[in-house]
Formats: sequence, structure tokens, C-alpha cells
Amino acid sequence: MGIGNDPCFMFSALFLCWFSFITNHLSLGAVDTISATQSLSGDQTIVSAGGTFEMGFYKPGKSSNYYISMWYYEVSPKTIVWVANRDIPISNKYSSVLKILDGNLVLLNESQIIIWSTNHKSTTTTSSNFVAAVLGDDGNLVLRDGSNSNSTKPIWQSFDHPTHSWLPGSKFAYDKRTKTHQVLTSWKNSEDPSPGLFSLNLDATSIQFLLLWNGSEQYWTGGPWNGQFFSLVPEMRGDYMYNFSYHDNENESYFIYTPYNSSFISGFIMDVSGQVKVVTWLRGTKERNVLWTLPVQQCEVYAFCGAFGTCNENTLPFCNCPNGFNPTSSNDWNSMSYSGGCMRRTELVCRNNEKKDTFLEYPNMRLPKHPRSVAVGSAEECEFTCLSNCSCTAYAYDSDGCSIWIGDLFNMQELLENDDRGRTLYLRVAVSMYSSGKNKKGIIGVVLGSVSVVLVFSGLIFAVGKRRQVDEEQTTTVYGSLVAFRYKDVRRATKNFKEKMGGGGFGSVFKGKLPDSTTIAVKQLASVNQGEKQFRAEVSTLGTIQHVNLVRLHGFCSEGKKKLLVYEYMQNGSLDSHLFHKMESKVLDWKTRYQIALGTAKGLAYLHEECRDCIIHCDIKPENILLDVDFSPKVADFGLAKLLGREFSKVLTTMRGTTGYLAPEWILGVAITNKADVYSYGMMLFELISGRRNTYQSEATKYFPIWASSVVIEGGDVFSLLDSKLETHVDVEEVWRICKLACWCIQDDANHRPSMGDVVQVLQGILDVKPSPIPRLLQALVDDD
Ligand SMILES: *[C@@H]1O[C@H](CO)[C@@H](O)[C@H](O)[C@H]1NC(C)=O
Ligand SMILES: *[C@@H]1O[C@H](CO)[C@@H](O)[C@H](O)[C@H]1NC(C)=O
Ligand SMILES: *[C@@H]1O[C@H](CO)[C@@H](O)[C@H](O)[C@H]1NC(C)=O
Ligand SMILES: *[C@@H]1O[C@H](CO)[C@@H](O)[C@H](O)[C@H]1NC(C)=O
Ligand SMILES: *[C@@H]1O[C@H](CO)[C@@H](O)[C@H](O)[C@H]1NC(C)=O
Ligand SMILES: *[C@@H]1O[C@H](CO)[C@@H](O)[C@H](O)[C@H]1NC(C)=O
Ligand SMILES: *[C@@H]1O[C@H](CO)[C@@H](O)[C@H](O)[C@H]1NC(C)=O
Repeated sequence: MGIGNDPCFMFSALFLCWFSFITNHLSLGAVDTISATQSLSGDQTIVSAGGTFEMGFYKPGKSSNYYISMWYYEVSPKTIVWVANRDIPISNKYSSVLKILDGNLVLLNESQIIIWSTNHKSTTTTSSNFVAAVLGDDGNLVLRDGSNSNSTKPIWQSFDHPTHSWLPGSKFAYDKRTKTHQVLTSWKNSEDPSPGLFSLNLDATSIQFLLLWNGSEQYWTGGPWNGQFFSLVPEMRGDYMYNFSYHDNENESYFIYTPYNSSFISGFIMDVSGQVKVVTWLRGTKERNVLWTLPVQQCEVYAFCGAFGTCNENTLPFCNCPNGFNPTSSNDWNSMSYSGGCMRRTELVCRNNEKKDTFLEYPNMRLPKHPRSVAVGSAEECEFTCLSNCSCTAYAYDSDGCSIWIGDLFNMQELLENDDRGRTLYLRVAVSMYSSGKNKKGIIGVVLGSVSVVLVFSGLIFAVGKRRQVDEEQTTTVYGSLVAFRYKDVRRATKNFKEKMGGGGFGSVFKGKLPDSTTIAVKQLASVNQGEKQFRAEVSTLGTIQHVNLVRLHGFCSEGKKKLLVYEYMQNGSLDSHLFHKMESKVLDWKTRYQIALGTAKGLAYLHEECRDCIIHCDIKPENILLDVDFSPKVADFGLAKLLGREFSKVLTTMRGTTGYLAPEWILGVAITNKADVYSYGMMLFELISGRRNTYQSEATKYFPIWASSVVIEGGDVFSLLDSKLETHVDVEEVWRICKLACWCIQDDANHRPSMGDVVQVLQGILDVKPSPIPRLLQALVDDD
């Protein structure tokens, strides 16, 4: 295809010629080509013929630098997929130009010096007059020689030079002739596209994708390709959106993928967070969805919080510095770039026989990477070993023996108290960090001392509080049925937010006690963008919603940016802790599980059908089903989707980042109805049955909802699906009913799913349930077997 016989090309060229008489400022919307007669400068852009991609100068965030970049046209947030001059920015886009020069596409900076080029060394003398670069609707910028109309092979194409994203239809390849792998490298930070520390790599030997830090430290793999999917990410196969395939020939081996439905535009992006984000949206809609983030958990990313930084999956921001440490660069830290890590406020003093350093105890930690084990027999010897080497920064001693760490600590993670991965880490600090300058025992004394001072102090406050209770009641306003708490009262009730029970993207939850001894759970909302009036209005609506299967809102606090919700406290915590965590002693029996399924359904049915404004929960998962003292379930966090608006959907997609409970509608970008909750509820039913996360696998091919559906539809042995921890007293009929129901709830088409009211009736045995058709996506999988 060449300039002579490609009508589109000719048209664009003519169009460009005509256009160059007109001011640059007009939109060049219809132009997709850079040619001898048309270059790109200033605010000009080219747009692919189908309007999918746009290219031009782009200035990321608050940076003052410009880069020739390609992004999805009309999609927000603006998502860059390719950058030409990622290492060498320019600062004036009006005096820089992207043009064809000597058969290449080149970028000239303000001094008209070439700073980026397609670098093609032509074998024949190509005339620049016939060379042109066309931005395709697939996101491929292709440089062709129009004078050689027989040549179909491009001179150069951006698909062969990806930067940080992998687009549908392009190869992710290993070139056997040059022995080179393609690599996607993250940006340095959100304002600097130059190569950062995280990269997505193809291991051609074992045929798998790896995520590496600094080119060496592997922190994630999708598992080997088994011909159909990557063994550790079955949900990628379970989703019917993409056709992944692997090809191997004498010259190269590569992966390629295409969406089955061309209405979906998507891409794999190696994000600055160190996660691969698979983004997608429906043609015609402007809003982007993040379909998957790999790895799902931010804290799995190696060194995400830098040296000495601790990662916490349950707080925003994810990164914190330990006591005695400050962020190395608070600027970076404030702009959410944590890789610089933390540094000591007081340097260690290391002199022989002088105990100038000591250790701070950190319980419930995931230990840093790269420990060295030391063969000693006691905690004291372990501590001594560390203390006697000036480069030793931490130690841990437990049933696995003594481990010490030399140099910077990476990958520390704060875990929740009931997490059985938690260990205790002893972090070396300078004694002089404390003014006392005493020995180690002294330090622990100081730490304990200050804790008890706080306790005594808060005790005092309580006493004062009690005395002034008459006052208090006068200043506590009641808002509808809700109490509007003052921040200082909530702080007092939670002992300055001391006892954290859990948390997530919306903020942490703390246990507290009101002066009248009512135990409460306080949810600290991470970010609310609503105005005061609207916030109060929304919250007071939530306050009117009362149902035995919904967690009761007592009140709220709203002072400036401080937004808190005060809920009733639930003794038995959340469902996930009983289903999935090994530490729990009591296994939920079948009857209890059935009642939890029924109660949850009743709560949701009330939200969907009976309260004044229908509420879609949007985030049904075991973490949001709380259990009362008698294990009756109450749905938590309802109404937050509306309250938090955009923040909520951001959290949904970026925090969880997995399709685990999310209905296809979320991914497809179509309207969300209350049937989205039904889907999530169905996914949760499977977990209630199996006692495991759906994403857990015993054998690579068995994605539980898929397996369970096929068992149900073939009339197989439903008992094989049950949690092995369940003993006797299982009602066969109930198991069948709940399994069939779960299959109906996860139908692809929202219209085929039952309403929550129907679900209640089925569980009560009032409505009968026939076997469901296999969902389309499951059908495909079952057929493959
Ligand atoms: C243009 O690039 C050249 C070579 O990198 C450099 O020496 C020169 O300073 C640049 N001009 C401007 C205005 O930045
Ligand atoms: C294209 O191929 C035809 C026949 O194969 C040949 O006659 C012609 O010279 C070629 N044109 C160019 C520009 O190479
Ligand atoms: C990355 O690795 C190189 C050597 O391969 C090393 O010099 C550099 O310091 C490392 N970067 C960081 C941030 O540790
Ligand atoms: C998937 O893609 C491969 C390679 O592009 C193609 O051969 C195959 O037919 C496609 N499969 C489906 C079901 O579209
Ligand atoms: C491999 O490369 C050679 C030389 O470029 C080419 O002739 C051959 O067709 C290629 N093989 C495949 C399968 O593409
Ligand atoms: C692609 O998805 C859209 C939106 O869900 C749907 O309307 C359309 O029918 C789908 N096309 C195909 C070929 O499945
Ligand atoms: C401290 O430990 C490291 C690693 O084991 C070792 O290389 C170094 O020599 C030790 N330093 C001293 C003073 O023992």
C-alpha cells in the first residue's frame, strides 16, 4: 500500500496541504498522517481514522516538560499509551517539531536538533517526499515508503517499540534472531515518563509474564501459559473479553491478544504503581474502567514504599514510615511517589562495646525481603548478632530461628492483627532518638511509659467527659435520627483512633466506646468530595434506613475534611475472617451459613426494593457482611457508593482490581443496576459453599464458580463442592438450592439474574429454582474440557 493507490492516504495528504494555509489552532481532528508536507507542532494533534487514538505534544501533570505522546482520544482520565521521547523532554512545544526528515520521522527540539528519530537506515535511497507516518486506529504509528508501492512492510512501526503499554493486535515478543525480549517499563513517576523501576517481561523459556523491579527482582508472575490461560490468573481466561494466543516460529515467539467484541477498547499498562493495569471501555463512552490490576495487592509490588518504608494495604496512602523515620523526600511522598523510601531521623551510632543502638518492636509485620539466617539458639543471641554488626538493621526471632537484615529494608508490610502471616520485626534505631539516652530496657520503658501516659491521659479525659456530660448533651446535635458527633468526642471514644479493626479503600475502621458504654465502630472516610450540605443530606438519608440485616448507622461527624461515620459494633467481625482465615477456631456450620445467605439477601432486598430511594450497594463481598453476636448477618457500607461517588468507583477498580465479585457490567461500562449486587452476591454464595476465595485454586484449571456451575448443571455431586471443614448436618436440598441459585445470580445478562426478592423466596423454599443455563463465559470453558 502506498501513497499512489491508497485513497485514504491521498485524501489526508491533500487535506493537510489545504490545511496548512489555515491557522494551526483549528482542530486537526480528521488528520491521521505526518508527511513531507505536514509536520506536528504546538497544539496540533493527529487522530486515527476511527477516532480511537490521538497523538501530539503532552505535558504530564505539573511538569513543565513536553513529550510526543499517544493517548486514547476522548477518554478520561487521559491515558497515555506510548511516548516517543520519553527520556529527552522538550520545554517549548511551539518551537519543536515532529516531522519527516531524510526518510525518518524525527523530533527536533527548540534548537532544531534531532532528539528522537525512528532511526531507519535506508538501504535504497528513499525520497522523503513519499515517506509518511500514519496513526492507525489500533494505536500503531506506521512509517511507510510511498514510493515503493510494492512494499507492504513498514519502515518502522511503534508496535515494535512499545514503551509502557501493550495494545490489542500488537505482539509482545521474543526475537530469536537478535535474542531480545520486548519489555514494558513503567514511568518514573506520574509526571516523568522516563523509564522507572518496574517492568513487564516475557520469559520465553517458561512462557510466562514476569514483573521485575530494577530488571532483576521478580515480584509477580502470571504463571506459565498452559495453552489457554496463565495458570495463576484464571480469571483472565475466565473472562470472555480477550482472545489471548501464543505463537512460536523460527524467528520469534510472541503473545498477541484481541478483544472478542470490537466495541471494547483496551490496553495493558505498566503503571507507575508497579502494577499492570488492564484498562478498558466501551466505544462511545468516555469513562475508563480498570479491569484488572496485577498483582491485585499494592503491597505485593517490590519496594513500592522504598527503603525502610512500610506498606499497608488497609490505609491510604499505602506507604508509611516507621517510628523514628521520615520520608526521604516529602515532596515525592506528597505527590504519591514512594520509591525514595524513608530515612532515619537520627543516625545509628555503631561503636564497639558501646550500646548506642536499640531495637523497636513491630508486631504483625510481613518481614522484609532478603533475610540472612543465623544459627543461634535464643532471641538474645539473635539480637546480639545484629547489634554487633554495624550494617545490621533489623532482626526477627521465632520458631524459624534467627534472621537478620543487612542494609536497607525493603518490602515491610503492616498486616492486620488476625493475619496469620504476621511476624514480629525488631528494627534497629539509635538510642539518642530518645532524649533519655538510656539503655535498651530504658527505651522499652519509655515506649511503654508513653503508652500508659496516653492511657491515663485519655482516662482523665473520660473522667472529665463524664463530669461534663450535661454540657455534652447540649452541644451534641441530633440530625434526623442521627447524632452529629464532634470530632473531639469521636477521638475520645476511640482513644485517639487506637484500636483499628480493619479498613479498605474508603478508610479505616476503629473500635470505640461512647460515654454511655455503647461500643461503636467508627469509619474514617478517606476522601469525600461532597460539600457539607450534600454530605449531611446523604448521610441523614442513610440514617433513616433501618433493617435487622443492615448495619445501623448511629451518627456521623463532619468537620472540614474530617468525615466519620459511627456505626453499631458487631461482635463477630466480618464474614471473611470466619470463612477464610485459618486462625479462627470455630468453623461456621451449614445452618449458620444458610442463615447468613438468607439474612444478607433480606438486607439487600430491602435496600433494592423497599426503602424510599433504591440503593445499589456496589460492593458486596464477605468483608462487608458483618456478624452479630448470634452470627446473624448485617450488610455494611451500603450507601457509600453514592456518598463517595467517583472516589468509590476509583477505589472499586484500583484497590480490588479483580473481577472477583464485579459483575460484567462494571467492566463493560454499561449501566449499573441492582442486578450488579445480585452478581456479587452470587459470587459470595460460592465462597460460602466452598469456604474459600473463588480465586483460590487447588488445581490450575479449577476456577471454583466454573467448576461449581458445571457440577450443578450436569447434576453431579454437589457435596464435592462443599467446604471440607464442614462436618455432618448438611441439608442436601439446601445445598442444591443454594448452588442452583448462585449459578442464576452470576448470569452474564443482568436480566437473567433473579431479583434479591426472588433470592429470598428461593432460600425460604417458597419459590422453586430450575437449573440455570450456563453463563456464556462458563459455557465456553466447559466446552473446552
Ligand atoms: C536541543 O538538543 C541539544 C542536543 O541534545 C541540546 O544540546 C540543546 O541544548 C537542546 N536545545 C534546547 C533549547 O534545549
Ligand atoms: C513493483 O512490482 C512490479 C512487478 O512485480 C515491478 O514491475 C515494479 O517495478 C515494482 N515497483 C517498484 C516501485 O518497485
Ligand atoms: C538497580 O540496579 C543497578 C545495578 O543493576 C544498581 O546500580 C542500582 O542502584 C539499582 N537501583 C536501585 C534503585 O536500587
Ligand atoms: C484467537 O486468535 C488467534 C490468533 O489471532 C486466532 O487464530 C483464533 O482463531 C482466535 N480465536 C477466536 C475464538 O477468535
Ligand atoms: C523468518 O525470517 C526469514 C528472514 O527474514 C523469513 O524469510 C521467514 O519467512 C521468517 N519466518 C516466519 C515464520 O516468519
Ligand atoms: C459488544 O458489546 C456491546 C455492548 O455490550 C453489545 O451491544 C454488542 O452487541 C456486542 N457485540 C457483539 C458482537 O457481541
Ligand atoms: C556484617 O555482616 C555482613 C554480612 O554478613 C558482612 O559482610 C560484614 O563483614 C559484617 N561486618 C562486621 C563488622 O562484622
